[in-house]
Amino acid sequence: TEHLLSVILFNCLSLYPISEVQQDCASPPVVKNGAVLGPVLASYKSGSWVEYVCQHYHFLDGPSTVYCHQGNWTEQPTCLEPCTLNVTDMDSNNLTLKWRREELVFLHGDLIEFECKQGYSFLQTAIPSPGRTQCDQGRLNYPKCPSLEK
Ligand SMILES: *[C@@H]1O[C@H](CO)[C@@H](O)[C@H](O)[C@H]1NC(C)=O
Ligand SMILES: *[C@@H]1O[C@H](CO)[C@@H](O)[C@H](O)[C@H]1NC(C)=O
Ligand SMILES: *[C@@H]1O[C@H](CO)[C@@H](O)[C@H](O)[C@H]1NC(C)=O
Repeated sequence: TEHLLSVILFNCLSLYPISEVQQDCASPPVVKNGAVLGPVLASYKSGSWVEYVCQHYHFLDGPSTVYCHQGNWTEQPTCLEPCTLNVTDMDSNNLTLKWRREELVFLHGDLIEFECKQGYSFLQTAIPSPGRTQCDQGRLNYPKCPSLEK
């Protein structure tokens, strides 16, 4: 009986191979302009998770919670860069900000509304808000205000 039992036990074990073994994860991946909340460990158990945050003014895109799953981390978020208004570019396009504000930094996805300086006007009058533009991962298309006089 003892022999039979050990044969059954052996068969049971071989029925469940490595998939039952919990694989640890290494340290979570580095995210540019982001960080993991709390201390970063060298090893994580399968099923554990970490929280990512982005640096100031950076927009967190994707899941902030990332899980260790059998040795792999699930998809990480990205930290999208903000837009900083360039006064030189605004001047050369004859623009001012529609709404006064202290900070010249806008988050990814923010809408920025410009006006033309006095004596200038937007060309595209068909567009409802020609002075409006959106911050796209640090890139900004400045509207143009050519002179009214020709
Ligand atoms: C973990 O990632 C490796 C390499 O990308 C892949 O071969 C493996 O199937 C993944 N494991 C799981 C449990 O997703
Ligand atoms: C502003 O833009 C100009 C040219 O478009 C560039 O030469 C300058 O370095 C920029 N200034 C800043 C502070 O980024
Ligand atoms: C801004 O105005 C100047 C003239 O004051 C003009 O030469 C220039 O083309 C204008 N900028 C744009 C982008 O139209």
